[in-house]
Amino acid sequence: MTITHDRSTKTIALVTGANRGLGLATAQLLGEAGTTVLLGARNAAKAEIAAARLRDRGIDCWPLTLDVESELSIAAAAERVRLDHGRLDILINNAGILPEATTADAAQPLDLDLFRRTFDTNVFGVAAVSQAFLPLLTDSEAGRIVNVSSRMGSLADQLDPSSPYAGMVVPAYQTSKAALNGLTIALSKSLSGTSVRVNSVCPGWVQTDLGGPDNRAAAPMKADEAARTVVDMALPTEGPTGTFVDLDGVVPW
Ligand SMILES: NC(=O)c1ccc[n+]([C@@H]2O[C@H](COP(=O)([O-])OP(=O)(O)OC[C@H]3O[C@@H](n4cnc5c(N)ncnc54)[C@H](OP(=O)(O)O)[C@@H]3O)[C@@H](O)[C@H]2O)c1
Repeated sequence: MTITHDRSTKTIALVTGANRGLGLATAQLLGEAGTTVLLGARNAAKAEIAAARLRDRGIDCWPLTLDVESELSIAAAAERVRLDHGRLDILINNAGILPEATTADAAQPLDLDLFRRTFDTNVFGVAAVSQAFLPLLTDSEAGRIVNVSSRMGSLADQLDPSSPYAGMVVPAYQTSKAALNGLTIALSKSLSGTSVRVNSVCPGWVQTDLGGPDNRAAAPMKADEAARTVVDMALPTEGPTGTFVDLDGVVPW
């Protein structure tokens, strides 16, 4: 069934991995700002539950089954959005994993299976989703892609002994976010002649399952506070492209 919407003015945003954590908080903030939010989740039931939760808070949102590792799922989701909305204004590539938090073996720092799983979601998933939704984003007057990255992927931080991130070593996650940042730069250049902007955002260290369920005292930010940085980059129709920012401003690559 095709949903009939007012296609004229309302901003339409898709958040991947929106069923929990930072993605759910980002979806809520976007909705509170008057955006129609598509809640991407690989589990359809979880997408429905998240949508029901946000609708109870008065937010205009729709569940969207979307597994960023599945080409079929991505293609079906893009077609659904094309049929229901005809365009996409904002794509938040939020879905991400950090399996090293629970499975890394310090004696085996290069676990290739873990590397592949991490890259499949954090890098290839973002590339595949961005590729599938680009035609809809270019149909927007001001398309925006926000890649949810991390300072853990900043090569400058890793090499700076005075950085609080210098001592952190999670190779698969760090290289995946560095690759994601590279994707931000390359895609922003590829799209320089279009209305679509592409940026990376580090939300901070956030109290989510990924941020560390055993370490909540260490993760200083709540998801709704951290989502503000993501939304501040996503909402404006004009702004920079090819940048990497956090709460305090520009982050060195
Ligand atoms: N938390 C932090 O401190 C922090 C810091 C910097 C950057 N980040 C980044 O912020 C983003 C969100 O992280 P979070 O802290 O909110 O983590 P989280 O609570 O673990 O949530 C991760 C989300 O990604 C989804 N996801 C994972 N694989 C997926 C797939 N193949 N297809 C679709 N969705 C998938 C999960 O869905 P399921 O429920 O189905 O697993 C979940 O909704 C990530 O990109 C992360 O790297 C987080």
